[in-house]
Amino acid sequence: MFPLHRGRRLRVNESIRSLVRETSLSPADFMFPMFIAEGENVKVEIPSMPGIYRRSIDLTIEEVKELFALGIRAVNIYVKANDDLKDNTGKEAWNPNGLMQRAIKAIKTACPEMIVMPDVALDPYSIYGHDGIIENGDIENDKTTEALVRMAVSHAQAGADFVAPSDMMDGRVLRLREGLDQAGFHNVGIMSYSAKYASAFYGPFRDALDSAPKEAEIEVPKDKKTYQMDYANRIEAVKEALMDVEEGADMVMVKPGIAYLDIVREVKNAVNVPVTVFHVSGEYAMIKAASERGWLDHDKIMMEQLMCIKRAGASLISTYFAKEAAILLNK
Ligand code: PBG
Repeated sequence: MFPLHRGRRLRVNESIRSLVRETSLSPADFMFPMFIAEGENVKVEIPSMPGIYRRSIDLTIEEVKELFALGIRAVNIYVKANDDLKDNTGKEAWNPNGLMQRAIKAIKTACPEMIVMPDVALDPYSIYGHDGIIENGDIENDKTTEALVRMAVSHAQAGADFVAPSDMMDGRVLRLREGLDQAGFHNVGIMSYSAKYASAFYGPFRDALDSAPKEAEIEVPKDKKTYQMDYANRIEAVKEALMDVEEGADMVMVKPGIAYLDIVREVKNAVNVPVTVFHVSGEYAMIKAASERGWLDHDKIMMEQLMCIKRAGASLISTYFAKEAAILLNK
């Protein structure tokens, strides 16, 4: 009777493997992060992210229509603000005619069914490259939160379906919920970056937006470790996610992805809202770089990583591979 169990019986061919497969991927599992720039007919490739561009609004809406046709149903949007608009208050963030607000309006007009989730954090607008307002050498939590509420309400006024706070200030989900409700936006959701780690995987993103923490004439933190989480910690991620759900988050996020799948599963088991995962810029750059050298098979690694993120517990994956993966899945 040896061996009693032959696990290989369920792996004999692709048909049986497909019958017992526990996880599947579809284009609707993805959200595509997009970088927006001023101007017209602008499409600039990010050097550390081959295949990813900063686009002006006109070209962005063309891309959004293509994404929708491929089955992608959500975009996360980030803007590159001009330097002369940056200060330590972040006030450009809630300018009703700002680049973000114009982008939201244009996308929702061109493709009303695409779910638009603008990023809520001050870093694109901060002269210091931080996610909030600096006072006495650190980010002032509660003043920053007030600024984020103004920002989120301006996104809702422009037509955003969801707002996505990526700043990691304490209590901001509660304030955002109150602020949106008071302004009449009960149906605008919150996808909170709940367990966002202080990670070196964000490097290429900061190149894309020129948003890395900068030297300054006043004392400023040299990194984001006083607000983003310590990657040695696991229990703290559960605490952050549970707090955000209690404060009214409709979805929570874990970020980055691949090196943090234990956190994804832990959070998934703890909360009763959809868990999203951000497969971030550095993860994208690594696959592109290794496959350019012929060291890894691009498409296979891409699909393996996305499937493993889903298996770990993600309901949605924000990934720069969204378009490429959707094209493969539609074949
Ligand atoms: C900033 C923000 C960052 C990312 C999303 N929102 C960078 C940071 O925290 O410095 C990173 C995304 C990526 O690396 O793809 N609020």
